[in-house]
Amino acid sequence: MNEPVLKIENLSKTFAVSKNKIQPLNNIDLEIEKGEFTAIMGPSGSGKTTLLNLIGCIDKPTEGKIRIDGIDITQLPESKLYKIRRDKIGFIFQNFNLLPYLNARENVELAMELAGKFKGQRKQRAQELLRTVGLSGREQHRPQKLSQGEQQRVAVARALANDPAIILADEPTGNLDAANKREIVKLLSDLNKKQGTTILMVTHDEQVAAHTQRTLLLNQGKITQ
Ligand SMILES: Nc1ncnc2c1ncn2[C@@H]1O[C@H](COP(=O)(O)OP(=O)(O)OP(=O)(O)O)[C@@H](O)[C@H]1O
Ligand SMILES: [Mg+2]
Repeated sequence: MNEPVLKIENLSKTFAVSKNKIQPLNNIDLEIEKGEFTAIMGPSGSGKTTLLNLIGCIDKPTEGKIRIDGIDITQLPESKLYKIRRDKIGFIFQNFNLLPYLNARENVELAMELAGKFKGQRKQRAQELLRTVGLSGREQHRPQKLSQGEQQRVAVARALANDPAIILADEPTGNLDAANKREIVKLLSDLNKKQGTTILMVTHDEQVAAHTQRTLLLNQGKITQ
């Protein structure tokens, strides 16, 4: 058996705000195999974003282990974590999070620049990725000149730029109308089927979750299938 892309063991996260303690994640185990497209659903405040933040090395767990490609990220210092974030993880957010003063191609290239790729190589790959997400001819457009759906496509291209082990998508269709929602889900589903991209996606939308191979429910600190 190959090592899973993601292996979570006994993961807990507690937040303390003044005297109140909130524990959105209580002793969670989860494995994601390479090439899986998984949805996470659950009520608002159930800890979905918290879980993605822990996997994405944006926040630290209170307890437990998270292995990405076999590396235990909970043991790593910040000086190594940024490399995991940069090389192993691709993020897609609800509100796209593109840089407004960079055009589509530059937004995709920036991720590769931070990873030390050379200029010529970056430009070519950014163009290829934008073609993959259906945005040929839009390379020079800044985000404000793109539709919401097109902006999210740029964000998908950016997430793929450094060929990450896993894509973490937090309500990627949450700000999109019905038509754009369908297109983004189809894009993610095609990437998964044709290129074997591993995707972990939070969604509130059952129609969106229906395109994945597995739906997990996060509720009261626990995950159920
Ligand atoms: N930095 C923080 N400090 C204190 N409490 C936090 C922090 N981040 C999240 N929480 C709390 O943890 C719980 C889980 O929050 P989280 O954002 O993970 O929920 P969610 O499932 O993503 O919700 P939504 O569907 O609304 O996005 C909430 O009760 C929230 O208030
Ligand atoms: Mg959330």
